[in-house]
Amino acid sequence: MPLELVTTPAELRDALQSARSQGQSVGLVPTMGYLHDGHGELIRRSAAENDLTVVSVFVNPTQFAPTDDLGAYPRDLDRDREVAAQAGAALLFHPDAGAMYPEGHATRVQVSGLSTRVEGASRPGHFDGVATVVLMLLNLVQPQRAYFGEKDWQQLAVVRHMVRDLWVPTEIVGVPTVRAQSGLALSSRNSYLTDEGRLHAAVISQALRAMQAAYQGGEAQADKLRQVGLNVLAQQPVQLDYLLLLDRDLQPLEGSLSPEQAAEARLVFAGRLHGVRFIDNMPLVAPLA
Ligand code: PAF
Repeated sequence: MPLELVTTPAELRDALQSARSQGQSVGLVPTMGYLHDGHGELIRRSAAENDLTVVSVFVNPTQFAPTDDLGAYPRDLDRDREVAAQAGAALLFHPDAGAMYPEGHATRVQVSGLSTRVEGASRPGHFDGVATVVLMLLNLVQPQRAYFGEKDWQQLAVVRHMVRDLWVPTEIVGVPTVRAQSGLALSSRNSYLTDEGRLHAAVISQALRAMQAAYQGGEAQADKLRQVGLNVLAQQPVQLDYLLLLDRDLQPLEGSLSPEQAAEARLVFAGRLHGVRFIDNMPLVAPLA
């Protein structure tokens, strides 16, 4: 099926009308474009589980702080169309900021607590922008399922919480992070890196994996596990924002972890390397290969 491009909410509603009237299931993959194979994985999963997949490509201004990289964020619509079509999408929704936030748009969605912790503390207001645009996209597309990468662990938690609190009738599907051979999590922002930077950035996944290995080797003290990760990160000039062990509510874990705490613990990293800000995460207990 050729990929159809629509740019306004009205066009999107029209394009989805016949699918809806035929009772077809719809999957949504919200993105900010510059699609890579991590997005490809979300789209393939949606295409396998739904009759029709919508990919949105919208660099959402409300989730960027004035000092963030909104203007520099990479964009390439032709490539996005190709990646989306190849992965099995039927519709690509690419609105401009005026179509999504017309004059007088005044509503923001805030998931209290969850949105201000960890990444939210480093980027105040970021998750309010994310929750707002995701709810707008869910309302516009009304999908049965929406697909989000686990790489943005806290974003996934915020979206799940919002959908639960507001009775949004969409299943939120988290999809495991896709990594380069070096272990670096795929991200549109990796395009900011030089080859050397890309090589050095592999230290992030190495640090998280070292923490997993230390736990598997019998270390259950949260601060000692953290130190294992910090020692690995010290091999490169990383400006650390945070390296934490979090529970399911994204609260930091401390002391000796019980097996139950460990089973749910998530290792989360944020920091800068070669001028680029990275986030990554893994479960403390590595899944069986
Ligand atoms: O993960 C992203 O690319 C964005 O935060 C999202 C979910 C598309 C909202 O703008």
